[in-house]
Amino acid sequence: MSLFLDALAGHDTARAPLWLMRQAGRYLPEYRALKERYSFWEMVRTPDLAAEVTMQPLRRFGMDAAILFQDIMTPLPAMGVDLEFAPGPVISRPVRSAAAAAALRVPEQEEIAPFAGEAIRLVAAATATPLIGFAGAPLTLASYLIEGGGSKDFATFRAFLQTQPEAAHALLDKLTETGIRYLRMQLEAGVSAVQLFDSWAGLHHELAFREFGLPYVRRTFEALADSGAPRLYLAVGASHLYDAIAELPCEAVSVDWRTPLSVVRHLMPGKVLQGNLDPAALLAPRDRLASDARRVLDEGLGGAHVFNLGHGVMQQTDPGNVQALVDIVRGFDRHASGVGSKVGVSERALGAAPS
Ligand code: CP3
Repeated sequence: MSLFLDALAGHDTARAPLWLMRQAGRYLPEYRALKERYSFWEMVRTPDLAAEVTMQPLRRFGMDAAILFQDIMTPLPAMGVDLEFAPGPVISRPVRSAAAAAALRVPEQEEIAPFAGEAIRLVAAATATPLIGFAGAPLTLASYLIEGGGSKDFATFRAFLQTQPEAAHALLDKLTETGIRYLRMQLEAGVSAVQLFDSWAGLHHELAFREFGLPYVRRTFEALADSGAPRLYLAVGASHLYDAIAELPCEAVSVDWRTPLSVVRHLMPGKVLQGNLDPAALLAPRDRLASDARRVLDEGLGGAHVFNLGHGVMQQTDPGNVQALVDIVRGFDRHASGVGSKVGVSERALGAAPS
């Protein structure tokens, strides 16, 4: 079994497997070279190109997992959504009424992004490295669909949830069913694990998250349980939601950089933890990067840990710093790195009083 799947099975592996969110993309010169000839959306929709971009970070760094080069918006055109990238998603007709939600289709599994399935088959045939499939969580997709694009605080979206909750639930229901079909397609095509990106879950109060977010994520994960593939969940800025997130039927939770893994470990019994270096640490001088990465590795002791960033690689990152990070994580022997630091970390985390 691969190191990545071993850790996701809950094993306290001797080395932390490593991959990075947004490990493919504009910080890599080989990606920018393709970007001169093709638009982002062209690359996403052309299986050869999507497979090539997926493999670029594997070739350069030998990551322990690949993530399919697609976007959380990929399944939406099949629902009847018109969208562009500039560079973030822009929805030409935002969904702002019950009628607009009712007009969206729930496509059949084989209608949803067949090019993504083809890209998965190409990657699976070319490498033994496990491939991660993904989808946007329903609440995060709804944020873009209702707001019409990215936003600092998604005020229109939050107002919509409060003023038109029934329309919101109708939309979330369709996004959930489409997402389940899309993820099933990816599993059949050959991905070994699936991650739900709930990038904007942290915008909401716990009660709103429990009403509009959690049930749809739970339904998605439950629908995929029979595949046996590990299920990962990512939310950002969501430490106020950890009680709710701990209830999810998933194997792993990706933690952003704000909270030490050693603290989250106690809040998520039974979950594998993924994370959680600040993406900005990759912009720091090497000695600072090294000490920050070692701190994360230390805080990840005491249970299964998949090393990652707290969110995606920043565009201005030097690939040489990513290589330095890979070397640090590879060189860290978790079993030799001592019970001493493990105990120290968890005591700090619990704020334990001296006995
Ligand atoms: O390497 C990987 O992680 C796989 C590819 C991937 C992309 N988007 C490619 C991409 C993944 C997993 C995503 C997920 C995604 N897309 C999320 C969830 C993760 C997160 O960051 O919170 C969200 C919110 C989106 C929506 C989206 N797509 C935004 C906000 C943007 C613009 C911001 C930016 O970074 O430019 C995109 C465009 C996008 N998706 C790019 C890439 C490589 C940049 C396109 C380009 O090359 O111009």
